[in-house]
Amino acid sequence: MADHVLLARARQDLGAFAELVGRPLATWQAASLTLERRTTVIVAPRQTGKSRSLAVLALHRAFRTAGIRVLVVSAGEDAAKRLLSEVRAVAADSPLLAGSVVDELASLVTLSNGSEIRSVPASERAVRGWTVDLLIVDEAASVEDDLLHGAALPTTAARPDARIVLAGSPRGTAGAFYEAACRGFAGTDVHTVAVRWRLRDATWISAEAIAALREGLPPALARAELDGEFADIGDGLRLFEDAWIDAAVARELPGLGSLAVRDRPGGGPLRLGVDVARSGHDETVGVQVRGGRVRVAFAGHGWDLMRTAEAVVRATCEDRLADSSALAAVDETGLGAGVVDRARQLGAPVRGFVSAARARQPQRYANVRAEAYSGLADALRDGLLDLDASDRVLIGQLRQVRWTTDRLGRILIESKDALRARGVVSPDRADAVVMALSLDAAWRPREVLSAEDRAARELEEALAIHARAVRVQEARLRWNHPKDWAGGSVMGNVLGERW
Ligand SMILES: Nc1ncnc2c1ncn2[C@@H]1O[C@H](COP(=O)(O)OP(=O)(O)OP(=O)(O)O)[C@@H](O)[C@H]1O
Ligand SMILES: [Mg+2]
Repeated sequence: MADHVLLARARQDLGAFAELVGRPLATWQAASLTLERRTTVIVAPRQTGKSRSLAVLALHRAFRTAGIRVLVVSAGEDAAKRLLSEVRAVAADSPLLAGSVVDELASLVTLSNGSEIRSVPASERAVRGWTVDLLIVDEAASVEDDLLHGAALPTTAARPDARIVLAGSPRGTAGAFYEAACRGFAGTDVHTVAVRWRLRDATWISAEAIAALREGLPPALARAELDGEFADIGDGLRLFEDAWIDAAVARELPGLGSLAVRDRPGGGPLRLGVDVARSGHDETVGVQVRGGRVRVAFAGHGWDLMRTAEAVVRATCEDRLADSSALAAVDETGLGAGVVDRARQLGAPVRGFVSAARARQPQRYANVRAEAYSGLADALRDGLLDLDASDRVLIGQLRQVRWTTDRLGRILIESKDALRARGVVSPDRADAVVMALSLDAAWRPREVLSAEDRAARELEEALAIHARAVRVQEARLRWNHPKDWAGGSVMGNVLGERW
């Protein structure tokens, strides 16, 4: 085709433009972004190419009409930067867009025809005050309604021909994005059209990867993120389904001390999780888990740290006479650190649990707490736990736990502060169960790894096993030759090697 014909087509057609600038779009992606009506709503699962399509769309519109202004609003600072760098990369690589200028500080790309594309995070300060011809909101379900209505949408008010694109994965059945989608799907509003994208149409994501993702997600999250469906926000965001909890309450697993316990996941050794009270209202509580049987070991109000430490020692060390591999996890953030130190000093096998620490699968879970809670969700869903029917406190707390996703789309469990704000008591017992489960690989949420990551992980694990064997060997040597010790108590050294 002659150059001028190609050029004319690229001006006309988003798909042709995308091809020419080296970011081809699927037919269904390009077809949903013709912007015939004032507002276009794209409801799409994760990874179906929303951000890519929007970046190309922004460039296409700026390219085909001189002197227009495009504002791209992303849910967060990082997302806005990523989108800007995608726009910049396309502009830099393509002869079609030669002469484009980038001002990183102003998050602005100016094309040689005078059109501008600005990419900003969803904040009042960044958004308010612009007048634009095209407003694009990526991850629109994560942008606060106030901001969308109060600052973002008004940027188009002065231009009757302006266009708006709201794209995102669904997040519950309320809010401006949900309402716009409903209007668009219902066809009752001549100014709004909604389009649903499907994961199965995104050929760049393998069916295997989708199946693996689905397995690792709570059902409500899978419905929203994989199927792109609006799930009811109240129950849809609850981490544990009532049916799972009810089944776990009805289930009777063998009691502690029974040999049958050893055959169950996480079976055998006793695990104790301990949540340390931060105020008089909260409970200090220790929960034991063994072979899937979950029971409160101790609970009380107003305990001082020494008393809690002693309870930890009692709950683990009694068992250690029969079973030397008992372990306790104690919430180490804040007050709990004192309990960890004292219980350790008394010889208890304690590990600190830090909720905010980095998860083992940091791309899926915002922190250790989210990962550990997801492990509990898996165990409940898979029917591996026996909850105490008389423990209404724990059962009530489990029914309240909600998940959400952070700006990076990782699973996040509602914080204790947020719960308090909703008037819900702190889920101390649920936290203790989660801490107990976190001690065993058997209770961790299943990993979703690429073959490459898996190989790296296996190597890492093999090296860790080797390093541990070397340490044990050294400990044995020291045991046999006490004169060579560097210091410390006898038990401390032995324990130090074991945990
Ligand atoms: N038409 C396409 N052809 C090939 N690959 C594509 C296409 N569209 C998107 N991709 C690729 O799919 C991946 C996800 O794209 P993108 O980040 O735009 O999706 P998203 O819907 O914004 O995802 P998220 O929900 O995680 O924000 C990227 O690697 C992107 O390059
Ligand atoms: Mg995206």
